Amino acid sequence: MAVRPVLRMGDARLWEIAKPVAQFATPALSELLRDMRDTMQAMNGAGLAAPQIGVGLRVVIFGMPPSLPDQEKKAPRYPDADSVPETVLINPVVTPMDGQTDLGWEGCLSVPGLRGAVERYSHIRYQGYDENGGPVDRIVSGFHARVVQHECDHLDGILYPMRIKDMTLFGYTAELFPDGDMPDE
Ligand code: NI
Repeated sequence: MAVRPVLRMGDARLWEIAKPVAQFATPALSELLRDMRDTMQAMNGAGLAAPQIGVGLRVVIFGMPPSLPDQEKKAPRYPDADSVPETVLINPVVTPMDGQTDLGWEGCLSVPGLRGAVERYSHIRYQGYDENGGPVDRIVSGFHARVVQHECDHLDGILYPMRIKDMTLFGYTAELFPDGDMPDE
């Protein structure tokens, strides 16, 4: 188990364009994914991109375990937030299914303590590879689609505050959501 430090906004490595993974099923890739899972779990995240731990490769992980009933009460703003399967996605390609967008709250492990409302495509197809080079190809909506777009942005050096259009919808979690919270991505 290796929990790695998560880079925070301001670290120049978060602005870089990550490189595609060239070889699958390697010990180095397994180790990277193990560290990413350990780090995401330790920080209670819903997703993590490799550049967030200083590795400039096009690798993201995400997933939300089903909510317990008491957590559900605390986070009623995210009714479909528990429908995201644990996923490894490498060299991803995201394609919007149509022009429909939603405004929704996001947080990021690289921007701790803050939340912002970001417009994202409501329905997307995402394609890529798992750690063994097997194909991943899904059509998803809602929070699942939001998480994927957030994580894939990290691979292109984009953090969610850069996408906020109304800066009155950006602030500290404790002020915005005194009664409950959502995981960071
Ligand atoms: Ni993030």
